[in-house]
Amino acid sequence: MQVDGRSTVRRAAAVLAAVAAAGALAVTAAPGASAGDPRIVGGTPTTIDDFPATVIFNVNGAQHCAGTLVAKNKVLTAAHCTDGVEASQMEIIGGQTKFSDTSGEKAGVSDVWQNPEFTMDGMQHDNSVLTLDKDLSYTPATLVQSADDAAYKTGADVTVVGWGATSEGGDVSDTLLKVSVPVVDNASCAEKYTAAGSNYDKASMFCAGVPEGGKDSCQGDSGGPAYVDGKLAGIVSWGQGCARKDFPGVYTNVGNDYSTISSHIG
Ligand code: ARG
Repeated sequence: MQVDGRSTVRRAAAVLAAVAAAGALAVTAAPGASAGDPRIVGGTPTTIDDFPATVIFNVNGAQHCAGTLVAKNKVLTAAHCTDGVEASQMEIIGGQTKFSDTSGEKAGVSDVWQNPEFTMDGMQHDNSVLTLDKDLSYTPATLVQSADDAAYKTGADVTVVGWGATSEGGDVSDTLLKVSVPVVDNASCAEKYTAAGSNYDKASMFCAGVPEGGKDSCQGDSGGPAYVDGKLAGIVSWGQGCARKDFPGVYTNVGNDYSTISSHIG
């Protein structure tokens, strides 16, 4: 399933579980997936200076997911990235534009809070807060604070960044990439995914993408940030394939869970 440029068995658990949860069909081709610009999918290179809260989330020393620094010693990531993983296996690295750099500050994880409403089957409330064993010096992100924030209005511009796959089933990117996609009407996204046999929870999720496909987050971007107007509105969660026509990316609605999440940030 996951084809990887830098190591053989990275991220397998998170990726496979997310695909299963999304009810993805066992397709070998990606109808509507862009064969064009090979970035995040359909994005462009950016730098960590533009998105300083973005962190690498390794497990057992290998690329697993991404996350966002939300306090000097707290990282918000996806629950599907922490499920079944011990804190002692986790490592957070900040400050790197290039995944392969070794210039960034590193921290271990001393505690994992995983949203108790999350399930791998349903992927609802896909958020976890990691407590780091030391402070990082990078500037934390500000969170959207309510589910009815303008951030989630249809058409709002969502910026997603990550080191994930640059095409469905393709290689991950060594350079941090960004892509901008509009918020998709929640009811029609729910309809599409429900018709495709997936669980879509309108309260704890939102969708972003372009109808023709070609721009999206993808495997390896999970847990990483989705910003609207400079605030953290979403967490990369799941999707049917990547960048497919009519199947936008699905993100955790951070505003919906703001009070729970913030109580674990302190
Ligand atoms: N679950 C994936 C991961 O673990 C992220 C998938 C995002 N998919 C999408 N089409 N936006 O990396």
